[in-house]
Amino acid sequence: MTATTPSPIHATPPAARRAALHRTLLAWYGHQRRDLPWRRTRDPYAILVAEVMLQQTQVDRVLPRYHEFLARFPTLAALAAASPADVIRCWSGLGYNVRAVRLHQVARRIVTEYGGQFPRSLPALLALPGLGPYTARAVACFAFEDHVPVVDTNVRRVLGRVLRDTVGQAAGERFFLALAEAVLPPGHAYEWNQALMDLGATICTARKPLCLLCPLSQHCDALRSGAPIEQPGGNGRSSGNGQPFVGSTRYYRGRILAALRAVGSDQALDLPTLGRALKADFGPADLSWLRGLLYGLERDGLVVLTGKGGGDGEGVRLPH
Ligand code: ADE
Repeated sequence: MTATTPSPIHATPPAARRAALHRTLLAWYGHQRRDLPWRRTRDPYAILVAEVMLQQTQVDRVLPRYHEFLARFPTLAALAAASPADVIRCWSGLGYNVRAVRLHQVARRIVTEYGGQFPRSLPALLALPGLGPYTARAVACFAFEDHVPVVDTNVRRVLGRVLRDTVGQAAGERFFLALAEAVLPPGHAYEWNQALMDLGATICTARKPLCLLCPLSQHCDALRSGAPIEQPGGNGRSSGNGQPFVGSTRYYRGRILAALRAVGSDQALDLPTLGRALKADFGPADLSWLRGLLYGLERDGLVVLTGKGGGDGEGVRLPH
């Protein structure tokens, strides 16, 4: 079975239950929805930019960067024409920089292989290398208003709680995709998916859900069962504010890119200079550690190593 056809689920909530959920959540979204700039457009390019940024970064941190990015690269063609270094520079502060490289590659591919027009169907979007299944569905639904489920962590958590009796022990991406598809309201997939995201971000949060304020409190299996719904926080990889732990690989990758953004586009930094920008006590014994980080960044298309082979000529720069 391909990614376009989620596996069937064995228990779909009955039609009356689905109708009650639709009525209630869509009414709530009608007056409580967050006024977010990517909800005021159906431009697939702007929506792609937003959804890539939102995958690992919270809305309030994305907002200013979304505007800046679109001011710098207003169209898909403008992004495709830019150099990777320009795009990586513009991503500064957002973290997970490999997203910038992939976004840029997707833009170039759409320009070269699709004449600059976004593929219009979900299967064609899913087939675009570099566009993950979440992003492909988000573009299909939020730009083209296709009847498509969009399942991120928030949506998964909301459905997992509200439909806990249906979900049972089931888990896995395909299950949630199929469940999300089974409960999509005909004709209202766009608002429904956005509403689930808002509910998950503002009320049905992971750690301290605000069940007293929840529009679905009368319809929620988890709340009715009285089972604890607080989830332990953190996965140990982040400090909880979206910033990497000081000293982690992600931290040093970010510091390396920050140092390279600070020098001119064509300029390479030699390894000892870069090393000292990372750690005041950087010494020859740290070179192999630094090379390991740089090889990883090079594999991700984020840096180019120059003058390989050791010696003073060994350097690194952003890709042109
Ligand atoms: N997170 C991911 N996509 C989102 C969207 N469209 N609106 C708000 N938060 C989101």
